[in-house]
Amino acid sequence: MFILAVSGSAIGLGNIWKFPYITGVNGGGAFVIIYLICIFSIGLPIMISEIMIGRKGKRNPITSMEILGIEETGNGVWKIVGFIGLMAGFLILSFYSVIAGWTFHYFLLTLQGLFIETSAMEVKTVFNQLTQSIPKQLIYHSFFMILTVSIISKGVRNGLEKAVYFMMPALLIIMCILLYYSITQGNFSEGVSFLFKPDFSIITASTILVAMGHAFFTLSLGMGCVVMYGAYLQDHESIFKTSIIIILCDTFIALFAGLIIFPIVFANNLDPGAGPGLIFQTLPLAFGQINGGILFGALFFALISFAALTSAISLLEPSVVWLIEKRQIRRSTAAILMGLLIWTMGLFTILSFNNLSSFVFWKGTIFDNIDFLASNILLPISGLLFTVFASWFMSHKSSKRELSDTTTLQYNIWRFLARYIAPLAVIIILINFIGVF
Ligand code: PHE
Repeated sequence: MFILAVSGSAIGLGNIWKFPYITGVNGGGAFVIIYLICIFSIGLPIMISEIMIGRKGKRNPITSMEILGIEETGNGVWKIVGFIGLMAGFLILSFYSVIAGWTFHYFLLTLQGLFIETSAMEVKTVFNQLTQSIPKQLIYHSFFMILTVSIISKGVRNGLEKAVYFMMPALLIIMCILLYYSITQGNFSEGVSFLFKPDFSIITASTILVAMGHAFFTLSLGMGCVVMYGAYLQDHESIFKTSIIIILCDTFIALFAGLIIFPIVFANNLDPGAGPGLIFQTLPLAFGQINGGILFGALFFALISFAALTSAISLLEPSVVWLIEKRQIRRSTAAILMGLLIWTMGLFTILSFNNLSSFVFWKGTIFDNIDFLASNILLPISGLLFTVFASWFMSHKSSKRELSDTTTLQYNIWRFLARYIAPLAVIIILINFIGVF
């Protein structure tokens, strides 16, 4: 249950859409290696810290931090960390739902055979038509939010467990079918060498920062999602081993997605560095040119929508549980209330691509700013504080007890990474984003 829930949260648009495109933009192999180093040296200790806090606190991220803060340091002000994470989750879901809506729209378009024998120009037009249409995006965004809220309303045990239980295997099966397609009809050797053959000469400081930032996003760290699920981890289960399994699964799916996408990209002479539009503006073209493109293309977009849904559920859950505990209201009422708020916030993302596209300030459109604030500022801050709390402020006895099944060496590795490496790396990311350097 715990592994399924956290994997469902971690595996989403970040793995299937964002990982391939930033790998493409950053030149492939060398970026992948740095990303993997970040995952294990920063992602792993922070994930362990968040699960520890969740299991010990046994509540939503805010209340857990308040209780543990009082217990360990005599100060409940630590709940602010939970609030920052919750805020990040709230903001991320508002645009995540819109993008997930796009993927669902592309699933339908592909199913209708719209992209058969189409040109790059036409694919671009289709994408522009979507982003220019407020009603279309509104429908898909609403649909996605309603789906997320209905699953949350049923409760984690009834809704989420079942959803993840069926979605993850379905996801893997569809990906295997697509991989078979890529091996037989894509340019597999070029795809593999792009993904795994490092060229360190093209690596810059910013590439390393992008890789570190993505480690946060893809593992759902800093938002309290993992803290939330930590409460469901049984006392006899190993936090260390579970974290490693989840991280391996997440990394496996991301690399798997890369192995599917790049052979198709190279077989069709497309640009691997096409950017965020890689999937929406380039893959439909590829699927339109190949045999069985309707089926494979539709399956691919269905897969992304599924993965996005399980991530969205985990983004909404912490704030709903917090609202239930705070206001003593029914789960469905809390889910609908939060869902409505986030849905409304999502309208700003939709408008950022059309009517308000010229309303640009600070980091760009309203959408750019929401994304920047949530992903690049709030996540690292709360992730940093979660891990600083667990490694510096929680007593040695408490952390040792949570990690009781680990060897002394494993415990010391966690403590060293969580105390020094991870916080330092996050501070570097922040300073870079704030633009001090
Ligand atoms: N980790 C998810 C992904 O890779 C995104 C996500 C972020 C999910 C934050 C939950 C919380 O798509």
